[in-house]
Amino acid sequence: MGLPKREVLSVDLISINDLSRDEIMDIIKDALYMKRKKDSVPILKGKFIVTAFFEPSTRTKLSFHRAIKGLGGEVIDFIPSVSAIQKGETDIDTLLTLQAMDIDAFVVRVRRNGAPSEWKEHIKVPIINGGDGTNQHPTQALLDMTTMYEHFGRLDLKVAIVGDIIHSRVANSLTQGLLKFGAEIRMCGPEEFVPRHYEGVSLITQSLEEALDGVDVIYALRVQKERIEKLPLNIDEFFRRYQINHKTIKLAPPHAVLMHPGPFNRNIEVSDNIVYSERSLILTQVKNGVYSRMAVLKRVVA
Ligand code: CP
Repeated sequence: MGLPKREVLSVDLISINDLSRDEIMDIIKDALYMKRKKDSVPILKGKFIVTAFFEPSTRTKLSFHRAIKGLGGEVIDFIPSVSAIQKGETDIDTLLTLQAMDIDAFVVRVRRNGAPSEWKEHIKVPIINGGDGTNQHPTQALLDMTTMYEHFGRLDLKVAIVGDIIHSRVANSLTQGLLKFGAEIRMCGPEEFVPRHYEGVSLITQSLEEALDGVDVIYALRVQKERIEKLPLNIDEFFRRYQINHKTIKLAPPHAVLMHPGPFNRNIEVSDNIVYSERSLILTQVKNGVYSRMAVLKRVVA
């Protein structure tokens, strides 16, 4: 295809499966240490890191910016809508062009499943995957596991993932990450939005009552409308059957917490009165996103 081959191996983070159980726990402990310590060491001083997000993002991109700057590094934010992409340049040619400017790493997000794995065959500097299609979102899984570990002190938890699971890269990375720690994962949603089978998952059900019985964590997901070609009619109404609200949260034990990767759709998958309640860890997840990504940058780039 007329592209350079990578000569030197570098550490990347493309999938949660790139990390062993011990490596995940090291990142979690490092993230929580940096959160407690606050004054971080400038280990990225002199490093230039490009964020190249070919799909929209608030949390992932800006928490990476915060993490890079917190570690003393420089951010170069590539914005496709005002770039030579608009003149027909391809994504890989864009990354090779940016790499030629002596940058030290990429954080990427892309619509196409598997694109970061293809790119790493040609790119010499480390690539961190900030989400590819319906495939993987490893740093989301790491910040979620950091949040669960911080709250419960362990990860062998009972976790019910509720919502549009088959279009969710978050569901994949989180499930695969938690299974390494012996968690019990349940999946719940309308039959159009849950898989028939998922390796290692103990329960796949259309019943919210069954899914939430005895759980530690309710992990709600939004409907990924941008990935669905033809939406079933009244999708929002359809999803209200699975909404986590002040009534349905009672299907779970009192100690159970609500998590959501964001962005959430108010009063669709989560109700107004529960989203920032004392049961919710949603903003803690966002905060931990900064420190988990600092720990990832330390491992991959510093
Ligand atoms: N959770 C998550 O990936 O959010 P953003 O799309 O805002 O980055």
